Amino acid sequence: MHLLHTLPELRAALAGQRETAFVPTMGNLHAGHIALVEQIKVLGRPVVASIFVNPLQFGVGEDFQRYPRTLAADCEQLDAAGCDLVFAPDGHEMYPEPQTFQVQPPIASELCGAFRPGHFSGVATVVLKLFNMVQPAVAIFGKKDYQQLFILKGLVRQFNLPIRVLEAETTRAADGLALSSRNGYLSAAEREEAPRLVRLLREVAARIAAGERDYAGIEQVASNDLAAHGWRVDYFSVRAQANLLAPAPETRDLVILAAARLGATRLIDNIEVRVA
Ligand code: PAJ
Repeated sequence: MHLLHTLPELRAALAGQRETAFVPTMGNLHAGHIALVEQIKVLGRPVVASIFVNPLQFGVGEDFQRYPRTLAADCEQLDAAGCDLVFAPDGHEMYPEPQTFQVQPPIASELCGAFRPGHFSGVATVVLKLFNMVQPAVAIFGKKDYQQLFILKGLVRQFNLPIRVLEAETTRAADGLALSSRNGYLSAAEREEAPRLVRLLREVAARIAAGERDYAGIEQVASNDLAAHGWRVDYFSVRAQANLLAPAPETRDLVILAAARLGATRLIDNIEVRVA
């Protein structure tokens, strides 16, 4: 496996080998990231992963500085998973100019965007740049970051990028907690409490599947439950899969999305549910 840090090196390595499969990440890899590599590896194309902690998608006071940077361990895992090339640029390589063009995605102020202004603009911008740098035929993203996946599918579609986007199911710990690089911030007590989020999502999904239609009511009950156990809830929201907006009464394909903070750690998760 090759580890490259600059765009000229990357371009040279990819010359004559453009039909690659791409896995963008911010590093500190866990089994969820590796599952993405394994899923895309099946296509039989050379696999390129990127590792870049993107300053543009972190807000003031967020965890950009302390975000774990574990390049050597990440490369070991990627190598073992059969990744062919890792692109790990530094901040100057990615943003050589002090002012940068930014993509302004739709629904970037909904859900997570309401609590992280500028976040999805930063995500869409860096992914567009990474797509232009790597020029993959196919790329894969996880459903754990459901709104991000929705926005990036829109980016590819609306900018007519010749890239197929694959989706990966969320990889979870045995107790249901969605794997995340941020789980490492949790104290032992918080780690024990953390699966409440997925338990509530599953309960709410079961109630909706069983015919419950008072979405506002269930959102409130779930938020109160989290708050009663020490969480600070950003949102717990039933949305339409098609546009991530509030569902109409007849909408059948729903997704329940939640973001809440345990101490200093912000956790997100979601579950899809189909109304019978
Ligand atoms: P990062 O959080 O490192 O995640 C990289 C990819 O792994 C994303 O597609 C994310 O959805 C996926 N992923 C993370 N945890 C997962 C889990 N438990 N199960 C399945 N997939 C999971 O998301 C980002 O980085 C960045 O925003 C990025 C797209 C790289 C742009 O900077």
